[in-house]
Amino acid sequence: MTKLNQHLTPLFSTLKDVYAKRDITPFHVPGHKRGKGVDKEFYDFMGPNPFSIDVTIFKMVDGLHNPKSCIKEAQELAADAYGVRKTFFAVNGTSGAIQAMIMSVVKPGEKILVPRNVHKSVSGGIILSGSMPVYMNPEVDNELGIAHGVKPETVEKMLKQHPDTKAVLIINPTYYGAATDIRKIAEIVHSYDIPLIVDEAHGPHLHFHEDLPLSAVDAGADICCQSTHKIIGAMTQMSMLHVNSNRVDANRVQQILSLLHTTSPSYPLMASLDCARRQIATEGRELLEKTIKLANNLRAEINKIPGISSFGKEIVGREGIYSFDPTKLSVTAKELGLTGFELETLLVDDYNIQVELSDFYNVLGLITLGDTEESTNTLLEALKDISKRFYGTGKKIEGEVQKMPPIPEAVLIPREAFYSEKNKIRFEESEGKICAEMIMAYPPGIPVITPGERISRATIEYIKGLKDAKLHVQGMEDPELNYINVIEEEDAIYLYTEKMKNKMFAVPMNLGANKAGIEFGPEVLEEYYPDTFGEMTYIDIEKQRENFNEPSLKYKNTILHTCNKLAQATNEAVRDGFRPITVGGDHSIALGSISGVALEKEIGVIWIDAHGDMNTDETTISGNIHGMPLAALLGAGDRDLVNCFYEGAKIDPKNVIILGARDLDVKERDVIEELGVKVIHYDDVMHKGLDHILEEIKDHLKIDNLHISFDVDSIDPEFAPGVSTPVRNGFSPEEMFQTFKFLFKNYSISSVDIVEYNPVNDKNGKTMDFVNELTEFVLNPNC
Ligand SMILES: Cc1ncc(COP(=O)(O)O)c(C=O)c1O
Repeated sequence: MTKLNQHLTPLFSTLKDVYAKRDITPFHVPGHKRGKGVDKEFYDFMGPNPFSIDVTIFKMVDGLHNPKSCIKEAQELAADAYGVRKTFFAVNGTSGAIQAMIMSVVKPGEKILVPRNVHKSVSGGIILSGSMPVYMNPEVDNELGIAHGVKPETVEKMLKQHPDTKAVLIINPTYYGAATDIRKIAEIVHSYDIPLIVDEAHGPHLHFHEDLPLSAVDAGADICCQSTHKIIGAMTQMSMLHVNSNRVDANRVQQILSLLHTTSPSYPLMASLDCARRQIATEGRELLEKTIKLANNLRAEINKIPGISSFGKEIVGREGIYSFDPTKLSVTAKELGLTGFELETLLVDDYNIQVELSDFYNVLGLITLGDTEESTNTLLEALKDISKRFYGTGKKIEGEVQKMPPIPEAVLIPREAFYSEKNKIRFEESEGKICAEMIMAYPPGIPVITPGERISRATIEYIKGLKDAKLHVQGMEDPELNYINVIEEEDAIYLYTEKMKNKMFAVPMNLGANKAGIEFGPEVLEEYYPDTFGEMTYIDIEKQRENFNEPSLKYKNTILHTCNKLAQATNEAVRDGFRPITVGGDHSIALGSISGVALEKEIGVIWIDAHGDMNTDETTISGNIHGMPLAALLGAGDRDLVNCFYEGAKIDPKNVIILGARDLDVKERDVIEELGVKVIHYDDVMHKGLDHILEEIKDHLKIDNLHISFDVDSIDPEFAPGVSTPVRNGFSPEEMFQTFKFLFKNYSISSVDIVEYNPVNDKNGKTMDFVNELTEFVLNPNC
């Protein structure tokens, strides 16, 4: 229910009935002086009225940047019509409004969750704000060849993985009319007390008819913008931005709009916005009723045409589709052997019909308040004729939606990529380089890679596959895809990501190994390498009363107490957006470091160790807990260890690899087998070669976030004698650097342990030097 008199149009009325009527003599811009200085042909075509109200800011007609009278009232009427707290007129379309919306909610370096298939203005807003996008995959409909909305479950999962996110953006509805369950998404987003911002370019009409999907603000979104000009009666470029909660500061929105908007907005265009609001507020329901009927009738008739079809409400319930806007009319003639692009060309060339867009399978027509039976019949008759012309020719469309590779690793945030120098190199040789272009695959219209992301072999192969399948690849400067623009590592400008935010913890634990010396590890490293280890937070070991009748779980209470404290610390670090690096101490502490991270994100673990650490209290020979943490993390063994920090297993065995094993106990092997954990022995590395093994890791660990638990005894004792339980052979330092580089390149490394350095057994500081170098790399993998 509206409170104000929606029949009023304060801005339009002031222009028409006050300014134009008073026949003011203008000594202000625009220079055409109410049309007298305009080119004659243009003036004759346009007629006098647009020029008579084409003015600039002065008291009589108010100003957009600090509105006090008629523009203020027009915006208040719009807010009333949409039932929101505050509405701003957006004179640079929804593109400008989206940029303002993003800049209002995130600052440089802050994370914003966005669908991978956003409009370019969202990418623009991310560049302008300096924020860090975290991409969510929308649901892809292979049959229709398009992407729908993002599911609430996806938002929930991504927020769990990125709890430091500052805002979430979604699209409602998509260009093709698919709306997601925005109410549920709003609930999830608000449980993190962050704003949900919505690109509602295609939904300015939703609020006004009950048969349309719920509008963003009605569903609980905090801020949204809508292209009033696209769907209802405003002139091109005119949009609205609505704020509807305290999570967004409306004054900041006004400031940012002022920063982005011209100081000379068009008054005739703004007046059209004022009038479009009147129309939709006073007659919207009735007009939309007619429009929806027209669209549904047209769709039903189209679906009777041989070889041509148009999807409708029946797609509701597919992944990513909670409701559907029937006024979006997608038409496919793929059964006639016509791509959407070909159908668009036929319609315009042979029938004088211009659709809104076409993709590989579909053309999209918009049915709006401006349509009539006559216009819908024109389209229907044209489609019938096309069916007659092409039916039964046996032509087939080649190519279908190909499964996309994982979202590539982001090295630079979009703003950094934007400012970094670019070089053209051969596409085939671009593996490992930072991409400087946005490459889109059609269908389904989702970027394969965006500027700042690292090009992987999988990306290259996928793009080559699209090209071979004659599918559309867009965005690259070279349409032949022989060359690509990249950013060389040395040209990269790191504004915000130069130093990944790390938080280091030192845990001088030796009770898990029950050997003296390891407890001095952190202290010695800090003394010799203060630049690397100078900022560690120490987790003190507070001795607890032990049950010495439990010889198979030595010092369990003290170890658990320490691990709980460490888990609390790594958990907080992750929630604050840091990567926790834990320096041991013996390997028992990984029970804590990993538990803390696993509560926030789904992680995989690569356990780089000469040992398996997969014993339980029933299989252990020594009773030393540093041989058990991985089993406990996977849910096996003593319940107290398993339930460290929170109840139950922390990781899924399928997401774990033990790398470099050289010394597994006999019964420990049974536990490994029972849980189905993949082990790569160091012998395998020697026989197959490290390159091959690294690819094997990538094939097995299909997870984005990875924890590296590195035990120094994985290194050959010749290079790293300073450990408590040395085993012959093992990785060389070079091999380990190659492994770390590979892991950092192919995964998002959530957290790292570096454990079991024992200075007492070291020779000439060899081990210490190596641990320092490896830690330096971990702290700054981009250098
Ligand atoms: C999903 C989406 N968002 C934003 C925009 C930008 O809207 P405008 O053209 O009003 O700037 C578009 C334009 O097509 C769009 O499709």
